Amino acid sequence: MSDKIGYDRVGDIAVLSVRNPPVNALSQAVRQGLWDRMEQAEADDGVRAVLIVGEGRAFFAGADIKEFGKTPLEPWLPNLINRIEGSPLLVVAAMHGVSLGGGLEVALGCHYRLAVPSARVGLPEVHLGLIPGAGGTQRLPRITGVEPGLEVMTTGRHVGAAEALKLGIIDVMRDGDPKELGLAYAQELLAAGAPRRAISEMPPPAAIDWDAAFEAVLAKGRGQISPAWCVRAVQTSVEKPFAEGLAAERQIFMDLMQTDQRKGMIHAFFSERAVSNLPELKGVTPRAVESLGVIGGGTMGAGIATSALLAGLPVTLLEMSAEAGEAARGRIEGNLAGALKRGKISDAQHATILNKALHVVTDYSALGQVDLVIEAVFEEMAVKKTVFAELDRVCKPGAILASNTSYLDVGEIAAGTSRPADVLGLHFFSPAHVMKLLEIVVPDSAAPDVVATGFALGKQLGKVSVRAGVCDGFIGNRILAVYRSAADQMILDGASPFEIDKALEAFGFAMGPYAVADLAGLDIGWAVRKRKRAEGVQISARDAEFPDRLCEQGHFGQKTGKGYYDYAGGAKARVPNAEVLEFIAAERADKGITPRDFSHAQIVRKYMAAMVNEAAKVVGEGIARRPLDVDMTLLFGYGFPRYHGGPLKWADIVGLEGLLSDIKAYAAEDPGVWAPAPLLEQLVADGRTFDDLNKEGAA
Ligand code: CAA
Repeated sequence: MSDKIGYDRVGDIAVLSVRNPPVNALSQAVRQGLWDRMEQAEADDGVRAVLIVGEGRAFFAGADIKEFGKTPLEPWLPNLINRIEGSPLLVVAAMHGVSLGGGLEVALGCHYRLAVPSARVGLPEVHLGLIPGAGGTQRLPRITGVEPGLEVMTTGRHVGAAEALKLGIIDVMRDGDPKELGLAYAQELLAAGAPRRAISEMPPPAAIDWDAAFEAVLAKGRGQISPAWCVRAVQTSVEKPFAEGLAAERQIFMDLMQTDQRKGMIHAFFSERAVSNLPELKGVTPRAVESLGVIGGGTMGAGIATSALLAGLPVTLLEMSAEAGEAARGRIEGNLAGALKRGKISDAQHATILNKALHVVTDYSALGQVDLVIEAVFEEMAVKKTVFAELDRVCKPGAILASNTSYLDVGEIAAGTSRPADVLGLHFFSPAHVMKLLEIVVPDSAAPDVVATGFALGKQLGKVSVRAGVCDGFIGNRILAVYRSAADQMILDGASPFEIDKALEAFGFAMGPYAVADLAGLDIGWAVRKRKRAEGVQISARDAEFPDRLCEQGHFGQKTGKGYYDYAGGAKARVPNAEVLEFIAAERADKGITPRDFSHAQIVRKYMAAMVNEAAKVVGEGIARRPLDVDMTLLFGYGFPRYHGGPLKWADIVGLEGLLSDIKAYAAEDPGVWAPAPLLEQLVADGRTFDDLNKEGAA
């Protein structure tokens, strides 16, 4: 008998305790164990009720995701749940921690559900490119009604116990030990003669306009298909008898299991967790960080400070003058007001942060006792070096000195101090209290425990931390420079920025590259281009100048009301700025280019090929340790659509050989952008994939 499910008898109740750490995923052994223990309980003389309870952190976190993509092993979850629901015994679920996906579906197969107040339930399958596949689309709407049920499953959000009680997902909410509470509840039900209550036998809910709902959900998903398929599955719960609805749900689930979107999203799920799991950090103890210093209170510094304050760290922020300090405080207050409004912090926390945790200072000596300082000043080496010289002078021994530089050589910054082992890059993305990506930039001189501290801090701040080596732009901005250059070149050759944005938005990006540039501020890219030109660095043989023309007119994007788009009607009502087309036409004429048409498919192919090729160089040179590190950088810092998994997962899915052959064809036109990455050539020659490299690099 399976050791995954404990069995003990308390009076006339059989207690089935789930033991599959860390999160009680419903693996084959767990499913078999539940099946066998149900049989045991039914054969056990005098047992009248069964209590299912999870040991450890959760009731069940859902199906075992590691089994996805393999042949499903019996007993299948839908059958197990039908078996639980069909038992002649009264079956009660006592839920704590999370009950997600198949976990909530098991609970919905029980006759009564109790949860502790801290419990969370949900059907997050859409985040894996799937729909609930074990009766969730059939049972949930029968108790919540169609619209609330659809909202829960199409968003995949976690629903707290109090809300679950209101929605009817659970029957009672009580505080205490789940097993004790569950036993007491089961006894009450038995004493009251409560009937077995199978959701599958309840009448179906009322219909809605299914086609309209399907289209609305599809549009919201930016090309992601699984949420829309929840609508079709729920439709069957209304239109068909339960068993047929269940079969239809299973069919959709199995069909989605075969899709590239499912592969991309499951890659993202595991990569998000693997990214901070580096072999070099095994057994390395991070230094304690109980206080933070931030140098510079502009948008970036204020965002970093906000992020730390929201994570409970006290922050000392240094500005150059009292006025600049006040402005910085104002920015942080604005950020915190947003967090308060969204319910991320309570009134009391808000007050504590402002009155006790934030110190704005103008004198370096105030940073003498902080454990880690992050510099976020002007992006110029000489300025950075001056700041680090000051930090070196005032900071206590063992303090970590970090730079938020986006491009500069962190090794050179470190070498300018007397303690290079304590220096690293912590590259946040703007707005730093919102964006989840943190590039941890590791110069050769950095001590392992300093790197480990960077990762520990990232975790504390709720970031997805990616290790990056030192090069111009690290992982993300280095790749961005190349695919943006490829896009600029397509524009010179005949595409328009608006068509490029449209094509990439249809691919799944929330915003195309030119809309993003408007949001970030066109002056930022302008400054980088000027620096690179001064350094003689030029990616493409043809230097696109139309972006400069815009800046010369004072059009810096959203903040000036005009950039590639005109924002007179607000950010959401952007319209193309016709001037841009004039600048482009003039440049084409100047360069003697005859424009040609690009289809959306050609735009996406070329843009993605540039991204993949540079990403392969970044991995090949060791700037990123594994392909998945690039994938997570693009996903969490650059709006790459999660359902494609990341650029290198996408490349594996579409096929490396075809991509390489396209890259070689493009290289004939412009070798600067398109020189094939040696790693890509090697993988194609060996018939291997980026994912093979991920597996080799697993910690
Ligand atoms: N299957 C397999 N492994 C899982 C898992 C699952 N369903 N859920 C979590 N894990 C693993 C994680 O990969 C991680 O492993 P490592 O330690 O080796 O990295 C470990 O459990 C702990 O997970 P987290 O680090 O994520 O811990 P957390 O406390 O931050 O979050 C959680 C816990 C909320 C359960 C989160 O892991 C999560 O959201 N899991 C996915 C839940 C989910 O999507 N369930 C639906 C599955 S699909 C389904 O059920 C289909 C169906 O209808 C039949």
